[in-house]
Formats: sequence, structure tokens, C-alpha cells
Amino acid sequence: MLTVRAPATSANLGSGFDVFGVALSRPADVVRVSRAAETTISVSGVGSQYIPEDPDRNTVGAVADALNAPAHIEIDKGVRPASGLGSSAASAAGAAVALNELYDRGYSRTELVPMAAEGEAVVSGDAHADNVAPSILGGFTIAAPGGITHVDARVPLVACLPEIVVSTRDARRVVPEELTMTESVATVGRAASLAVGMCRSDPDLVGGGMDDSVVTPARASLIEGYDEVREAALEAGAAGVTVSGAGPAVLAACGERDRQPIAIAMLEAFDAVGVDARVYQTRVGEGVTVY
Ligand code: HSE
Repeated sequence: MLTVRAPATSANLGSGFDVFGVALSRPADVVRVSRAAETTISVSGVGSQYIPEDPDRNTVGAVADALNAPAHIEIDKGVRPASGLGSSAASAAGAAVALNELYDRGYSRTELVPMAAEGEAVVSGDAHADNVAPSILGGFTIAAPGGITHVDARVPLVACLPEIVVSTRDARRVVPEELTMTESVATVGRAASLAVGMCRSDPDLVGGGMDDSVVTPARASLIEGYDEVREAALEAGAAGVTVSGAGPAVLAACGERDRQPIAIAMLEAFDAVGVDARVYQTRVGEGVTVY
């Protein structure tokens, strides 16, 4: 038997739609695997009642197939499904790393990314790598057509998760299909600043690069209280605020000492519009850890 901890992630970061992602130091899933003649899955933890245990319908079933590694896979969910915090990606990433070790397949972490992305496709319909890449590799990742670029970064973050469900499919439907040259130029500028900010572990540069006038405003309309929460976080000292992944979690980048006041401000702002929420004081963290 082998056990791994697979971190939640935050994709997009505003200006890097379908490209940028970070591993979060918390929350995380715990995945346990043991060899078996055929794959079986059991799921416990937060939101487990919504997650199918049928290997054909669970993200980790496809990963076991891709690695030709049948196993009993126990998933203890710490990352709520449909949160915008890479819940299915965490399970897929954890299973990929764990099964690779269990069966001594010898794949590198980078080689495991497309295998875990196949698992993602089972639940989201598309094999996005922008959540599985940071969950497997840790740090900040850029999923570009030419491959994955990865850098370790130390940036404090706050992730506030409201009791609202936004499905990735719905959140993709509201994304504009076209953007103007003006929007394109602004987006490239912000994304480039954000990437440099990650390389320097500079929260101000990262926060400034989170601004986005294309995807985020469309998705914010699906999150009750988003504008109020964003404003409250900025007033409490956040360097930047955006929708985490497809939402509904809201992500803020900040300095270390500002995390707690920002966390409180975001919770209070959701509460003021009648939405329950929980908050994670987190940071850009490590990839899957093998125990
Ligand atoms: N980049 C994806 C999106 C992440 O925002 O739709 C969720 O799979």
C-alpha cells in the first residue's frame, strides 16, 4: 500500500485562462493505492457523496488505465468538488504519482501530467492540464501548446470558498469566444507580469497580473457577492483578486502579514450577502507528496 497527499490548485490566475496554475499548500486530497486484479475505487471526505466510485466515471479510473496499473484506490477528499480548487485534478494527480510508484513504472513527473489530464477529461469533458500540472509538479506552471513550464514560487494566497456550486461546464459556457486586439494586448501584458512575479515570488507583481477584463467578469456573474468580496479583499491589503479556476472560490494574492485580515474580510463580505463560506490561508506550495 502507498499513500500520497495531492494538493488543491488554482488555475487561470485571471490573465492566464487555461494556461496558468499554482499548487496550494492547503487543502489537499489523500490517495491510498494497493495492487489489485482490477480497479476499484472508494471515496470518503468532503463532498464524497457527489463523486462516483465507478472506475469508468471517476477521474482516477482513467489514470489507472493510462498507467496499466489496476489497483484499489481510496480517495479521502479534502478538496470539495466543484469548488474551483482543482478537486478532480488533485485526485487524478495523486493517483498518477501513487500508481507510478506502486508499479514502479518509472515515468517522470512531467510525463505523468498528460496521463492525469486524461482523468480530468472524464469529469470535465476536456483534458486540461492547468490543474493537474501544478498538483503533480508543485509551484507555478504554464501549460502552453509546446509543453509545461514550471517554477517554484513562494507567494502567500487566500482562497475563499462560498457554499455555491458552479460546474466547470457552465463556467466555460459564459466565456467570450472572441477578444479584441486591445483586450489581447492587455491580457498578454498582465500574464507576462504575473509570470515574472512568480519567478521573483513578488506578490504585488502577481496580484497586478491577476487583473483580467475578459474571462473573469463573465464568470464573476455566476458567483453571488463576488464584487463585494473582491473589494473587501483589496481594501484589506490584497495585491490582486480573481476567480479561482472555474469558481466559485475566490483567490487573493498578498503579503504574508495580510493573509489573516484578508481572510476575515472575504468571509465577512460573503456573509453580508447571505452566503456561507470557508477560507484557506494558503500559499503556492509543493506538488504531490509521497508518504
Ligand atoms: N482552466 C479551466 C477553466 C480550469 O477555467 O475552465 C477548470 O478545469
